[in-house]
Amino acid sequence: MNTNTPISKPYVLVNCAVSLDGYLDDASNQRLVLSSPEDIDRVDAVRVTCDAILVGANTIRKDNPSLLIRSEARRQERIKRGLSSDPTKVTLTTSGKFDPSYRFFQDGQSAKLVYCTDEVEGFVRERLAGVAEVIPCGANSINLPHMLADLHRRGVRKLLVEGGSEVITQFLSVNVVDELQISIAPFFVGDARAPRFVNSASFPFNKDRRMTLHSAEKIGDMALLTYFPSSRARTL
Ligand SMILES: NC(=O)c1ccc[n+]([C@@H]2O[C@H](COP(=O)([O-])OP(=O)(O)OC[C@H]3O[C@@H](n4cnc5c(N)ncnc54)[C@H](OP(=O)(O)O)[C@@H]3O)[C@@H](O)[C@H]2O)c1
Repeated sequence: MNTNTPISKPYVLVNCAVSLDGYLDDASNQRLVLSSPEDIDRVDAVRVTCDAILVGANTIRKDNPSLLIRSEARRQERIKRGLSSDPTKVTLTTSGKFDPSYRFFQDGQSAKLVYCTDEVEGFVRERLAGVAEVIPCGANSINLPHMLADLHRRGVRKLLVEGGSEVITQFLSVNVVDELQISIAPFFVGDARAPRFVNSASFPFNKDRRMTLHSAEKIGDMALLTYFPSSRARTL
């Protein structure tokens, strides 16, 4: 994978909730709610400020999220600003195994973009005809810098990445994250079969290169940690 960051890319904000022992979910088939009501509301306010929201294909298959803004007042606020009521939805896949009835594709009026590997383009186009725009972007896996450059060309200036583990791991290891927000829930999952915040990878931040903690806030019963991994200023 080409790890050079293109000059024109959206501001990338990774936001996720983790358990105290670093898990994004438990190992059951049911979605684990880690966030407090206050944190859910905070993330809703963050979504309003973003042009697009990205999740990995497994998150769509497992959680079936709608990725819409919950607050009607916030949706109206976006419309008043001349924006779509909800941010564009974005996902990426090598398998193309999506059911078009997922809420990602069916809910809301915003654009839905599916970045896929070149090999499965035809299959994915056929499967998602009429519900999403399909964009081939790499031979064996999506080249993230190229995908980000394409999103920028489409007018996306701020991208919210909401998970899961594989996606967050790639964004962090390829070093394209400008802001990292982690909300820590005050309980343990305690099951090694559950997905962790990140998988094994070579990260640009390690014992020799520490990130700077920008802030630590109490959000209901959760702790919100904010880091700015890139040197890009928080201008958006
Ligand atoms: N706590 C939180 O804040 C939070 C937020 C979101 C998700 N989650 C949890 O995270 C878990 C899912 O995480 P996960 O690691 O299994 O999956 P994931 O990161 O959601 O999705 C991984 C999938 O995305 C596609 N993908 C990722 N990178 C790609 C690339 N460079 N090129 C092409 N395709 C790529 C592949 O899809 P294909 O398999 O189709 O090839 C891959 O299998 C769920 O349990 C969910 O509940 C938690």
